[in-house]
Amino acid sequence: MIATPETKLNDTKLPRLLTQLPGPKAKQVLEQDTKYMSPSFTRDYPLVAKRGHGAVVEDVDGNTFLDFAAGIAVCSTGHCHPKVVEAIQKQAAELIHMSGTDFYYESLPQLAEKLVNTVPGADPKKAFFTNSGTEAIEGAMKLARYATKRDKFIAFYGCFHGRTMGALSLTASKSTQRKGFGALLAGVEHIPYPNAYRCAHDHTAETCGAEILETLERQVFKRLFDPEEVAAIVIEPIQGEGGYVTAPKFFLQELQRICRQHGILFILDEVQSGMGRTGKWWASEHAGVEPDILCSAKGIASGMPLGAFVARSRIMNTWKPGSHGTTFGGNPVCVAAALATMDLIGSEYKENARRMGDYLFAKMADWTKEFKIVGDVRGRGLMIGIEIVRDQRTKEEAPDLRNAIVDAAFHKGLLILGAGANTVRLSPPLLIDEEQADFALRILEECITKAQKKA
Ligand SMILES: Cc1ncc(COP(=O)(O)O)c(C=O)c1O
Repeated sequence: MIATPETKLNDTKLPRLLTQLPGPKAKQVLEQDTKYMSPSFTRDYPLVAKRGHGAVVEDVDGNTFLDFAAGIAVCSTGHCHPKVVEAIQKQAAELIHMSGTDFYYESLPQLAEKLVNTVPGADPKKAFFTNSGTEAIEGAMKLARYATKRDKFIAFYGCFHGRTMGALSLTASKSTQRKGFGALLAGVEHIPYPNAYRCAHDHTAETCGAEILETLERQVFKRLFDPEEVAAIVIEPIQGEGGYVTAPKFFLQELQRICRQHGILFILDEVQSGMGRTGKWWASEHAGVEPDILCSAKGIASGMPLGAFVARSRIMNTWKPGSHGTTFGGNPVCVAAALATMDLIGSEYKENARRMGDYLFAKMADWTKEFKIVGDVRGRGLMIGIEIVRDQRTKEEAPDLRNAIVDAAFHKGLLILGAGANTVRLSPPLLIDEEQADFALRILEECITKAQKKA
């Protein structure tokens, strides 16, 4: 149903624009924001959100939008799912904070049990809860160093792991994210990420990356770091901020083999790709790998600030009381939201993400033929990247055209985000239906056609 000024947001599935964008109230917020907020953020367009329900967001002027960004892949169960809201309200009235670092409360091990049981591998596992994705990565790095008594890390170009100093040392997504912050953690080496669309060796999506593994074993391990000094290899099974690039199955499996061979921990960053987004709990499950440490955040609590890392118990059990902690991580209200979120993802939305992902990919199967500026359509489930190029033959990146598409979509009521230099990312809530998918496809087709005329 399309929103009208009379309909309630809860009855709305498709957007309706009532004012020019930004509207008058939105303009006031933008002015205040410019005056008082840090300018380090990267807002693509002036959405000033007020309310949300399902996959629909209403702005301060009463315009409604179909949300295919989900607060950067966070609102997994949609905006304000009644079961999540109820869980938050009930918990907030009962106990808001206690700190799991110093005290116990029953929901904390409950969520830990639920979470570790989703992570592949027969070994027993334990969880540590954090406030964010970057804190999960930070904790995983500390645990890797602590457990292995080694201090080096291998990470990948294009990957994004967060903005705190440790995680930022692994991040090699955009130089602006590192520029100006001085020396980062020593002992981190980056190697290329397998990107089949831009593979220098003309490999397919199944075989791309063999040369990278060879470089790791023959160059990095021989000339830079003895593998016995490497604590962990950290990888996103699907690059998020880097442009929704999927690592081939064999690549992740080989990486795991190399890790096992040298006693290196295999850390998967599933902060963006996890929590049902690809149709399984974890994107890495599609490759059949079993991480030593897995990091999660974003979709885990439908928008409440929560992250986690899960490690094999024999690894987690190495560190001693006091070696790592957090005041807010695993806050009872966030945990309540996560318990409700995981119930919904497990019972319904994980499968819906798979089904709707298949639906969207089928509809976009010919886009590289239909649009000369669409170089590649890729991803899994509801983690979809559309790479925009100036020329399909040269594959020249077209960030200006990508930005034009993202902006035009906003002005037609569809919220999307960019990822990487020139990729449009689709990361809707996992509950979207066919009507909403069709609407998004239609708007995207119109915006790509319009941008194409400028190419
Ligand atoms: C894969 C990945 N890891 C880590 C992070 C950092 O998460 P946060 O922004 O919650 O610190 C992000 C955020 O985009 C991410 O996509």
